[in-house]
Amino acid sequence: MSKTRKVLVTREDCPQAGLDLLRNSKCELTIVPGDYPSREEIIRAIPGHDALYVVGNHVNVNAELLDAAGPSLKIISTISSGYDHLDVPEIKRRGIIIGHTPVVLNAAVSEIAVMLLLTAARRAHESRLLLEAGKSERKPMWLLGQDVSGSTVGIVGLGMIGLAIAKRLVPFEIGRFLYTGHAPKKSADEIGAEFVSLDDLLELSDFVIVATPLTSETRGLFDDAAFDKMKKTAVFINIGRGAVVKTDALLRALKEKKIFAAGLDVVDPEPLPKDHELLTLPNLEIVPHIGSATVRTRNNMAIVAAQNLINALEGKPLVYPL
Ligand code: DGY
Repeated sequence: MSKTRKVLVTREDCPQAGLDLLRNSKCELTIVPGDYPSREEIIRAIPGHDALYVVGNHVNVNAELLDAAGPSLKIISTISSGYDHLDVPEIKRRGIIIGHTPVVLNAAVSEIAVMLLLTAARRAHESRLLLEAGKSERKPMWLLGQDVSGSTVGIVGLGMIGLAIAKRLVPFEIGRFLYTGHAPKKSADEIGAEFVSLDDLLELSDFVIVATPLTSETRGLFDDAAFDKMKKTAVFINIGRGAVVKTDALLRALKEKKIFAAGLDVVDPEPLPKDHELLTLPNLEIVPHIGSATVRTRNNMAIVAAQNLINALEGKPLVYPL
């Protein structure tokens, strides 16, 4: 880069590799102090910066924030694959470039999906609770789970992550893969998946996996009616975005045993309050949105986001533009 550019980093807790790459590329960094800076702190700090390096999805980038940034802002680079925290049409309308970090997290997120699927199917959380309570019953019909081999797995959103999950499940001898979305996809042939309607997928699947982004179409897609269509033995997994599911509907489905179990990496709201009823359910495996939280993956995401930012400022194509 020929001249020094001003970059606002939205929080302190950020992989060093991304910060180093920015600093080595003539970027002058303003890091908003603290791990959870408020929106107001970010808005106060942003005027006059050339670039915004969004560390995660903790800040909504909308017209108010863009107004505060002023005309110097050229690129918004988020260290995330998802971009529901960005008002993309508004940002683009202002001619600001957007970068994100897909692909590098596919393996980590799909590993979490498989972990949730196996632990929910085999009642890992419930087993642990019973052990801790000293209620170990060594009887043949105790803690029976659902079989993964021979099962039908339905994937809502067969994008790169949906496909990565399916490929990791193939060695478990899945009987049949189904998927739904806007239209059939060529990539489905790699796992022999059949394109079906959402209703068919819900009715036929033993495992329903949500791997779709949050859009106006997918918000609240899983409501009472959706859970009512699923098998009583079904296991529901969500590694997409929490708001694709109506949390109260999922709570009812699990409590009333409309479905067998669920495994969640994402939930609405995040973070889930510690006294939320979902956390009392033995048939729920839940982790706090850690799908991409491995050392290598987070470093790679930070590096890709930094490279997106640098490329935009140098007038070059981004690694992953939106
Ligand atoms: C993403 O990158 O969108 C992930 O959800 C973050 O973990």
